[in-house]
Amino acid sequence: MALSEKTTLPPPRHIAIIMDGNGRWAKKKGLPRTAGHAAGAEAFRRIANYCRTLGVEYLTVYAFSTENWKRSQEEVAGIMKLLKNYLEEALRDMEKNRVRFRFFGDLSRLSPQLQKLCLDAEQRSHEYDVQVNFCLNYGGRDEIVRAAREFAREAAEGRRRPEELTEELFAGYLYSAQVPDPELIIRPSGEKRISNFLLWQSAYAEYVFMNVLWPDFAPEHLDEAIGEYHRRNRRFGGT
Ligand code: IPE
Ligand code: IPE
Ligand code: MG
Repeated sequence: MALSEKTTLPPPRHIAIIMDGNGRWAKKKGLPRTAGHAAGAEAFRRIANYCRTLGVEYLTVYAFSTENWKRSQEEVAGIMKLLKNYLEEALRDMEKNRVRFRFFGDLSRLSPQLQKLCLDAEQRSHEYDVQVNFCLNYGGRDEIVRAAREFAREAAEGRRRPEELTEELFAGYLYSAQVPDPELIIRPSGEKRISNFLLWQSAYAEYVFMNVLWPDFAPEHLDEAIGEYHRRNRRFGGT
């Protein structure tokens, strides 16, 4: 597949990215893992801007999983600090950038300061159109269990009947309520697995796995992934 491929077809409405490979990028350069995360944050800024230029309506990024707490305290603290810096900057530039922020995940485990930044970003941007969904302390299974628990609670209280539950209704209990499913999910870094990302929403997504580490991810790589997406034949179970 050639780099720098441009297509005149419209991009997918919703692109999701597993931002992976920061640690390996740092290792290759003899730097600490946190330097890889800092470079990953730069790649995110670059790609979020490029998505806006292309007219992508929703960009969902996997920033921290429910499993990532297993990492060293130093690494986790480094990632949280980068998130804090990014959100402070996003709040500062809110009126200029006009991006809507949503957060998918259980924020209650984050520091009160970070939770407040997430809440402010969500509230202050809710009228904007282009949307970035940050998956923070996010796990696909955790999301589904929470949704099931919430529906069960409402059923137990008599506000819902079990027979009422449809796929559409259930989707409304997920973090992604009201967000259309992603058409394209990209995983850089060479790994070919889902790692608990958007398990429900990815039912018919096209996956593109790429051999580039996230900090090196450039607009050309996104063009390449979109080109690959357009070459796929999406059948949705039909013929
Ligand atoms: C992704 O990069 C960032 C997070 C999971 C927070 P990694 O840190 O997983 O990078 P690798 O996979 O070790 O290279
Ligand atoms: C997935 O990457 C999570 C994020 C990118 C935030 P991981 O690096 O945590 O996934 P595994 O461990 O390779 O499955
Ligand atoms: Mg990884």
